[in-house]
Order: sequence, then C-alpha cells, then structure tokens
Amino acid sequence: MKKLEIDIPIQSKEKQRYVYEIFSKIAHRYDLLNTILSFNRDKYWRKFAVSRCDLKEGNIALDVACGTGMLCIELAKAVGSRGKVIGIDFCENMLEIGKRNISKTEYKDIIDLKHGNAMELPFDDNTFDCATIGFALRNVPDVERAISEMKRVVKPGGKVVSLEFSKPSLPVFKELYYLYFEKVLPFIGKIFVGTEKPYSYLPKSLKVFLHQRELCELFKKVGLKDAHYHELTGGIVCVHVGIAPAPTCKA
Ligand SMILES: C[S@@+](CC[C@H](N)C(=O)[O-])C[C@H]1O[C@@H](n2cnc3c(N)ncnc32)[C@H](O)[C@@H]1O
Repeated sequence: MKKLEIDIPIQSKEKQRYVYEIFSKIAHRYDLLNTILSFNRDKYWRKFAVSRCDLKEGNIALDVACGTGMLCIELAKAVGSRGKVIGIDFCENMLEIGKRNISKTEYKDIIDLKHGNAMELPFDDNTFDCATIGFALRNVPDVERAISEMKRVVKPGGKVVSLEFSKPSLPVFKELYYLYFEKVLPFIGKIFVGTEKPYSYLPKSLKVFLHQRELCELFKKVGLKDAHYHELTGGIVCVHVGIAPAPTCKA
C-alpha cells in the first residue's frame, strides 16, 4: 500500500477504509473526547461556523460528514421548526450516535441523518440553502471533489462552509499547540479508546493537509465566490466560506 512517510494511506480507497475504521472504532467516545481535548471550544467553533451560513427560518441545510450530528443540531437552531437539516456520513457507528444525540433534542423532527459519501453526494443540483462540513475535509480522499460536490448541491447565492483544524502561526503558541497535539492528545485518546492510533492520526492528518491559505485557493478554484476564511482560537481552527455562483448561461 502506498503511504506517506507519516504512515497515512493516501490512495483513495485505502484512505477511505482507514478513516472509516478509525471513526467506527471511536464513535462511542467521539463527543466526550471532543469536549475534553478541545477544552469545550468545539461548541463555540461549530456555532461560529453556522453563523457564517446566513441561514434563515425555513431554509434547508446540508451537513456533509455529519458524524454524531453536533453541527446538524446547530444548523437546526438556525433554520427553525419550518426548516430542514440533512446530515450525511459514511460511518454507520457515527450515524447511530448522531441519531441518538438528535433524538434527545427538540430538533428531532427536522433533522434527517443519511448514509452517504462526501465524494458523491446523493442529491440533485441546487437543493440546499447552504452546505457545511466539520472537521472532515482532512479525512476525504479528494478535497477538491468534496468542495465541488457541496457547491453543486447548494443553490446559487448559498454558502459552502468548512470548519477544520488549521495551522497556527504565532510563535511559542504554535510550538505549545503542536506539542499538545502530537504528544498529549494521542495519550489522552489512548486512555479513552484503548489505542493510540485514532488520536495520533489527527495530528498526522493535519500535517499533510492544506494550509488555510491553500484551502481558500481551492474554494476559489472550484468556482466559489468571495472565498475567505476566519481563524479561530489562535488559528487552531479555520472556518472557510464561499458562495455558490449563479449558473452560467450557455449560448
Ligand atoms: C472528525 S469527524 C467530524 C464529525 C462532525 N462533522 C463534527 O463536527 O464533529 C469526521 C467525520 O467524517 C466522516 N467521513 C470521513 N470521510 C467521509 C466520506 N468520504 N464521506 C462521508 N463521511 C466521511 C467520518 O465518518 C466522521 O464521522
């Protein structure tokens, strides 16, 4: 199997299987570990991402790679009881926890979780008022394709929004952060899930992922308008935003 020097398979099918196995294994601990490892900041990050979606009451939103449904719940708050939120993910174990999480909220009637792949969204063009993806662009085998798929299913003028780990640049803070990310995080992960692999994957996957500037360029390359990004918490995470363009007229 072809691998990067840091041991993550990069060939499409192998990466998908690798990622699938990781999330299948950690699904039952995913939310708890997010809260612990991010010092509860993950909730604020998701709220911020949703605030960039410009959603209105009654809108329909898509969350790609929805996992345990936390971003879906934030989207549901924005679209209200007349709106609709669809979450899709390819990992059954994550979806199962997601369905359980959502069933405990007042939004259970407006959120639907479905099995599906970010590489080939099972929706018609121009279906949604916005599409989000949280902490998952790093995990897909083809980032450009995932963004293009989101652009395709969003109505002209709607937002495509990604929330993802990024690369902080502040000296000292950056060093401390990487120390935490590479040493402490896998150690805590191991305590909770019994193996170091899933949480050592996280810093490794960030290392080979695009810099936030490059991801913004990719947003532009696929044709999203006004692509820009917001760095949060010292640049630990970034929210990228682009607007789906109006269709071009063919003469
Ligand atoms: C880090 S979790 C993020 C979950 C959620 N978005 C959140 O904000 O917590 C990454 C999710 O991406 C999903 N995923 C990875 N690759 C995928 C793909 N190609 N298609 C659909 N889901 C995918 C995984 O199953 C996992 O649930």
